Amino acid sequence: MNNWWENAVIYQIYPRSFQDSNQDGIGDLRGIINRLDYLATLGIDAIWISPIYPSPMVDNGYDISDYKDIDPIFGTLADFKELLAKAHKLNIKIIMDLVLNHCSTEHEWFQDILKNPDSPYKDYFIIKEGKNGGAPNNWRSNFGGSAWERINDSNKFYLHVFSKEQADLNWENPNLRRELYEMIHWWINLGVDGFRIDAINFIKKNQDFPNLSPDGPDGLADPQSNWLNAEGIGDFLQELKVEGFENGKIFTVAEANNVRPDQIEDFIGENGYFTCIFDFSYTDMDIKAGDWFRPVRISPMKLKNNIFSSQENINGHGLAAPYLENHDQNRSPNKFLETKDINFQSKSSLALMYFFLQGVPFIYQGQELGMTNYPWASIEQFNDVSTYDQFARALSFGLDEDEAFKRVSKRSRDNARIPMLWSKALNAGFSEVEPWLPVHPDYKKINVESEIKQTNSLLNFYRKMIEIRKNSAGFFTKAKFKGIKTHDENLIAYKRQDEDKEYLVLVNLQDKTSSFDLLNQEEYIEILNNYNFYSNEATEHKVPDLKNIKPFESILLKKKEI
Ligand code: NOJ
Ligand code: CA
Repeated sequence: MNNWWENAVIYQIYPRSFQDSNQDGIGDLRGIINRLDYLATLGIDAIWISPIYPSPMVDNGYDISDYKDIDPIFGTLADFKELLAKAHKLNIKIIMDLVLNHCSTEHEWFQDILKNPDSPYKDYFIIKEGKNGGAPNNWRSNFGGSAWERINDSNKFYLHVFSKEQADLNWENPNLRRELYEMIHWWINLGVDGFRIDAINFIKKNQDFPNLSPDGPDGLADPQSNWLNAEGIGDFLQELKVEGFENGKIFTVAEANNVRPDQIEDFIGENGYFTCIFDFSYTDMDIKAGDWFRPVRISPMKLKNNIFSSQENINGHGLAAPYLENHDQNRSPNKFLETKDINFQSKSSLALMYFFLQGVPFIYQGQELGMTNYPWASIEQFNDVSTYDQFARALSFGLDEDEAFKRVSKRSRDNARIPMLWSKALNAGFSEVEPWLPVHPDYKKINVESEIKQTNSLLNFYRKMIEIRKNSAGFFTKAKFKGIKTHDENLIAYKRQDEDKEYLVLVNLQDKTSSFDLLNQEEYIEILNNYNFYSNEATEHKVPDLKNIKPFESILLKKKEI
């Protein structure tokens, strides 16, 4: 294997909610340092830490006001260096979150243009003259409302894809691009091992900035391909790879949605822009067009079709980054399962389903414990710009307050952002004071301390899966994916194959028995089964009984080597 990521499992930390060390109710770097042993016990290879740079925290750190420092809420640069050194000692790599599409309006570049009409930074942002007393066009921001904000009392407006406190950077400007590359090197020189790159396929905008036909009651329109994977983005991404990431020697995982099948080779192929890209094909299928209040029912069959087509598109072109959860999603059991079905069996089936897919798998903090959505009681409990925007949008589409609240609560990003559950202690061991978001009431049952001790816990199931992947010498990262047609269309079955080995994954993500016809069944041995993974019997490689696959049973099989 040439590169560490070819056999890696990556764990995402949302630093505000991982571990508080100085008792202010907010997680911090020392908290992560104190929990490194836990991460080592899990067996993961790297951690991706959501943004820890100085920020006014309008979007919890995705609004950076200084790219080369640490926000005092999280600690200091010295703490960060200590984290790097201690993590590296444990063979854990550190992946920084890189937000290159926009910065905070509190950043000195933006502050300077507010004060100084001849600011050297005015071409660092996308600034246009207003039209007819209003914005330059009717593009809608991803966080609601116009994507343009007036500068002081002038007729000039700046563009923001996300909130108005996140001003988009003007990638057309080579000076801006050079500053960003220099900043990336600054972190590489400090010793970071890779980057998760935020919203990267928004960096190119259609320079005609056309007005569009309105698509909602607000008279605005989603600009779609005018700013998402827009024509010409490849030139920027190629330069970023060469100048920023040492021509691809540095690990990168891109948050790049809507990459079309014909673009995959360019993005992650042999000479692609990134090491891997997150797979959005199934994590957003429970909602229509990004609207949290427009739910879509997911059957196991639909889920399987989405996963299969995305994995098949990537086959032979590079690496995916499969994930079930992150800080922008609700908890996966609530997303993919009916409430009555949420239990160990169904959660471990979801886990097994995605964990052996092609690519570098990511686990989001608390996912390994089986954390579920928080039982929100009122809209005031949330601390997320996007949740408030989605609530307002739901009301504008005619939903009453109760219904809007119910739907938005189910999908809110804060479901993933509540504190990590460490123990049965006060505030689940996250902090001694009241945390910035509430603690899940299930914490007495679902927590690290209890699950570590319990042999048949989800946490130990994850440890087992990680161990299997780690012992595969990179097989699961790279081997070919092949979806299998089944007579029970809700049974999820796929193969992973290379020249010498073959594994088979069977996932029955439904509350009824299923079966699978495998003619040469005796040629397979069972490696992992979520009904008995903790007993030695299962690991002694028995021949499976596939005529009778139990409700929510999932199995990893291996073809005997001849
Ligand atoms: C994607 C990030 O994951 C999300 O949390 C953030 O709000 C937007 N990009 C804007 O940076
Ligand atoms: Ca703290």
